[in-house]
Amino acid sequence: MRKEGILENGRIENGVFYPPAEILEKANAKADIYELAKKDRLGFWDTQAKELVSWFKSYDKVLDDSNAPFYKWFVNGKLNMSYNCIDRHVKSDRRNKAAIIYESEIGKQVCLTYGMLYKLVNKFANALSGLGVKKGDRVVLYMPMIPEAAIAMLACTRIGAPHSLVFGGFSPDSLRDRINDCQAKVLITSDGNFRRGKPFPLKNNADKAMEDTPSIEKCVVVKNAGNEIDFVEGRDVWYHDLMAKAGNYYEPEPMDAEDMLFILYTSGTTGKPKGVVHTTGGYLVQIQSTLKYVFDIKEDDVYWCTADIGWITGHSYVVYAPLALGSTTFMYDGTIDYPDKDRIWEMAERYGVTKFYTAPTAIRTFMKWGVEYPKRHDLSAIKILGSVGEAINPEAWMWYYENIGGGQAPIMDTWWQTETGAFMCTPLPITPLKPGTATYPFPGIELDIIDEQKNPADEGYLVVKSPWPAMLRTVYGDDQRYIDTYWKHFGDCYFAGDGAKRDELGYIWVTGRVDDVLNVSGHRLGTAEVESALDECEEVAESAVVGKKHAVKGEAIHAFVILKDGFTGNAELIDKLRRHVGVKIGPIARPDDIVFISELPKTRSGKIMRRLLRDLAEGRAIGDVTTLADPGAINEIAATYLGKED
Ligand code: WTA
Repeated sequence: MRKEGILENGRIENGVFYPPAEILEKANAKADIYELAKKDRLGFWDTQAKELVSWFKSYDKVLDDSNAPFYKWFVNGKLNMSYNCIDRHVKSDRRNKAAIIYESEIGKQVCLTYGMLYKLVNKFANALSGLGVKKGDRVVLYMPMIPEAAIAMLACTRIGAPHSLVFGGFSPDSLRDRINDCQAKVLITSDGNFRRGKPFPLKNNADKAMEDTPSIEKCVVVKNAGNEIDFVEGRDVWYHDLMAKAGNYYEPEPMDAEDMLFILYTSGTTGKPKGVVHTTGGYLVQIQSTLKYVFDIKEDDVYWCTADIGWITGHSYVVYAPLALGSTTFMYDGTIDYPDKDRIWEMAERYGVTKFYTAPTAIRTFMKWGVEYPKRHDLSAIKILGSVGEAINPEAWMWYYENIGGGQAPIMDTWWQTETGAFMCTPLPITPLKPGTATYPFPGIELDIIDEQKNPADEGYLVVKSPWPAMLRTVYGDDQRYIDTYWKHFGDCYFAGDGAKRDELGYIWVTGRVDDVLNVSGHRLGTAEVESALDECEEVAESAVVGKKHAVKGEAIHAFVILKDGFTGNAELIDKLRRHVGVKIGPIARPDDIVFISELPKTRSGKIMRRLLRDLAEGRAIGDVTTLADPGAINEIAATYLGKED
């Protein structure tokens, strides 16, 4: 068998980057980790669960697969997330260690030790409980990247109330739909936060959403930006008022390993986002195990993951995994170029960041700005770099490696999803790297690439062959959708929606989504979501949205629109449609281009052929049209369209 992962010194040979000797010697991951996990997969996860989690009651069995795909991990184990993230550290030498370091765009700094965080989380759990929140109740968070967001998440887990975070960039409509889907009792938000020095009015948006959310009983407001807000007596309560009265201790609820921890909505191939459900035990095991080995977490780390807490990366790798491991997690709330384009590197230097995890779209933005910005700062404390959100292009990889890592810090290109909860395909610091590939499945994870006929292939669909601890358990309120979306395509394999290929070293290269999901600056959006927003406009008869390659964002949104009779496509209308999508979903979903056409290419069964539209959007000659209902029409469209583009 090929020996995966292990070589001696920091050399570069044939385009392969071998890890420096120092990393090999000191890495948490030892050379035999892959083989150990391969020999006994469940044994590997059993060891991880015993080592990394403080259980109130140990589990009877590692995996129950009797009711696939409704798998159960760590059966009958009892635990509490906030206990694992705080209490156990407070009882140790980490009591006065920094848990969360935070800086706001305007320079406000907060450092919370584990001891301080413990008090705040206990108090807020008492406050929520006082508002009537009980185990099982849903709480929605619509928050900036402030420590109170982490405090609120942890307080929910202490009570056993599943939270659902909605990214602050989402519109009131998106927030309303998510609140109504999970029937949340309480909404936690803030007055606003700073964006380029100006307050962004988060509470105003929340107010608009709450015009039509009958399940919401209370809205907790954190005073953050100090902007004026409307306060609805009886419904709205200030966070600081609640905290001033709250008791210091709240007994952590013993949760079953399979009790729901949170719901996170994500885009799929239909207009309606899915509430991805994660549970407690397996999730906590895999997020810790992956962070410990992949980012090589050590006691003196200052770890910075730049993701927003509204996304899965923010849940797993800004809040839960670093805190559960007793590490120090850094949070920044603001834009990356305020007041100048070196803001990120200035903070990385000032706080002595040792592990830095960001997205390719950010790296490409930094590249565009130029090396002079990182060069202003001493980044030599950085030991490991990470990337997530899309495949990192080799050019961005090299720039990151040389200019941020100083040629010393291996890059962990981590492939995973909201649904997987934790890293699935990723190098370890001991893995020889090739720019652009996420290399191997994490130990204990079984990935494969298969073709349409389910045969193993070197290029095809990326699937997970066996259940994994941090996997989603269902789609909230819709078990059938869970089965149909993830488990129907390839029998008993989980289909991730991504294509991939394998190279001669056995490395996996993720080639991108093969379904109707867009990836704009690492944000997931369904083409159907954008289309249904466009179709709501009175002028629009039909629309089709595709992703178009973009140098910084990875993909840009390109919309083809057919207008109803009597309407004319002009700049004013384009502006109106773009604005409407922004209001409906959020600014990230605004199409970059809107083009009016007379007909959409469709198959005989009426399915829009996005492949052809993508050809058009990217200015290529159109591909195979044999399955089209009316091949003549597309040629006509192509002739006018391509002519116009040039
Ligand atoms: C893409 C983000 C290639 C992929 C954690 C996946 C990646 C989707 C990578 C999930 C990577 C994420 N290489 N593609 N390292 N990381 N993706 O749910 O298409 O927001 O299916 O989770 O992002 O996006 P999500």
